[in-house]
Amino acid sequence: MATLLLALTILSLVVAGIEADQSVTITLLDSAVAKGAVCLDGTPPSYAYSPGFGDGVDNWHVIFDGGGWCRNVAECLDRSKHYLGSSAKLISEVNGSVYFNGMLGNNSTFNPDFYNWHVFKIFYCDGSSFMSNVEDVDPMYNLTYRGARIYDAMMDELLRIGMGNAKNALLSGGSAGGLATILHCDKFQSLFHDTTRVKCISDSGFFIHGQHFFGGDWRESFFSRVVSTHGLTNMLPTSCTSKFSPTLCLFPENLVPDIQTPLFLIESAFDAYQIAVTLFPAKGPQWISCNSNLMLCNSTEIEIMKDFRFILINTLKSTIANSSSKRGYLVHSCWRHGHMEDISGSTCSLIVGNGLANKNIAEVVGDWYFDRSEFQEMDMVNNLPRNCTGDDLPILEKKCSDYYIHHQMP
Ligand SMILES: *[C@@H]1O[C@H](CO)[C@@H](O)[C@H](O)[C@H]1NC(C)=O
Ligand SMILES: *[C@@H]1O[C@H](CO)[C@@H](O)[C@H](O)[C@H]1NC(C)=O
Ligand SMILES: *[C@@H]1O[C@H](CO)[C@@H](O)[C@H](O)[C@H]1NC(C)=O
Ligand SMILES: *[C@@H]1O[C@H](CO)[C@@H](O)[C@H](O)[C@H]1NC(C)=O
Ligand SMILES: *[C@@H]1O[C@H](CO)[C@@H](O)[C@H](O)[C@H]1NC(C)=O
Ligand SMILES: *[C@@H]1O[C@H](CO)[C@@H](O)[C@H](O)[C@H]1NC(C)=O
Ligand SMILES: *[C@@H]1O[C@H](CO)[C@@H](O)[C@H](O)[C@H]1NC(C)=O
Repeated sequence: MATLLLALTILSLVVAGIEADQSVTITLLDSAVAKGAVCLDGTPPSYAYSPGFGDGVDNWHVIFDGGGWCRNVAECLDRSKHYLGSSAKLISEVNGSVYFNGMLGNNSTFNPDFYNWHVFKIFYCDGSSFMSNVEDVDPMYNLTYRGARIYDAMMDELLRIGMGNAKNALLSGGSAGGLATILHCDKFQSLFHDTTRVKCISDSGFFIHGQHFFGGDWRESFFSRVVSTHGLTNMLPTSCTSKFSPTLCLFPENLVPDIQTPLFLIESAFDAYQIAVTLFPAKGPQWISCNSNLMLCNSTEIEIMKDFRFILINTLKSTIANSSSKRGYLVHSCWRHGHMEDISGSTCSLIVGNGLANKNIAEVVGDWYFDRSEFQEMDMVNNLPRNCTGDDLPILEKKCSDYYIHHQMP
């Protein structure tokens, strides 16, 4: 699980590097060390911050980075040796800076709703979606499990630099960061005045249990080991653990119904990560080639993907139906995992054939965030996974800027 995600994340760093020029320096939060808020390897946690400007100075977007989980000492030790478990390694692997793009980008042409916001990205180095808080350091390998403390230390830092006075605040994250968003959304909301508009977006964070579907036992046992390795039993929301076991309280379907803060879910019904990684943990070469090129999938595999879509859609629908307050969601049919951090997944998604109701994913999210319109839609037309790759970046950017020029509100 970790390996594939690693590959996906490194790829996205590289892709972002080619397409953008908004380079943002990574900062170590040294003050966190005194609070015991450190990465698996003991280095301080880190973030990348781009200050807001113009009429965005009172708006804050906080993003959790993603990258799977570790579920035993060996996996956590492995993570501590690269960027998902060590800020020192992160900084050396990416040469000290990252690129902000998509809904994080500062160019108004491509990101009209959020371009001038404060953008604060929290790097992921604890392996538990920012939930662990184990006092003792692992005696054998010096591993520290302190994700929840990292979250708290980052919030202290954000308040110190002015987030407490926000007019608008948004917490988001992709993948394991999308799960972190679901787990921390209400706590985040509680940092603000009643007058602040606070909302959360979970991007590809709706990991389904699918108990009776391929991999059901494996998914459950995976999260069970995440719970035990990171000591999460008493860290998960009590609104969930009062009804379900701690293991089941890492599945969003059991968490989302109790969240009080407005929440939006961006998902693919053919989530590339869940299908590629969590259905057949022991993957054969045929499944791997089908996942890397959809044209090579055989009829059995296509049926399995259609069944996955059916289960995801139904799980999401009943989760929404069971929810105390209203949710927004967009479920599309492109083969994808993660959207907000690049233009093809968010602000320019229509150009690659991905969107609903004739809108880019970022436009839908902007309309929902600013209360211009609600959105609860799934692609019910395409029941096969689509490859929404599109053109090379310069052509995509050109088509996208033409799109926005012609869709500008008078
Ligand atoms: C966007 O960020 C880049 C890199 O930090 C900077 O050079 C550029 O001036 C910024 N653009 C705007 C519109 O702020
Ligand atoms: C970091 O710098 C090295 C040496 O200049 C280069 O080979 C490598 O590709 C860079 N990595 C990234 C992620 O930019
Ligand atoms: C935004 O990107 C467009 C297209 O690449 C470019 O023409 C424009 O100068 C950029 N705007 C800013 C403010 O950087
Ligand atoms: C753990 O940390 C202690 C104190 O910093 C050090 O002496 C020891 O060598 C470390 N052990 C390992 C396995 O890295
Ligand atoms: C399709 O591929 C799977 C492996 O992913 C294999 O088990 C199955 O037999 C194949 N089915 C057909 C109809 O070729
Ligand atoms: C999608 O299409 C691109 C370009 O044709 C191809 O390189 C890629 O392998 C395809 N991806 C999948 C998952 O089919
Ligand atoms: C929603 O509630 C129904 C009835 O209480 C329950 O059977 C179902 O499992 C719940 N769905 C989810 C996704 O939690």
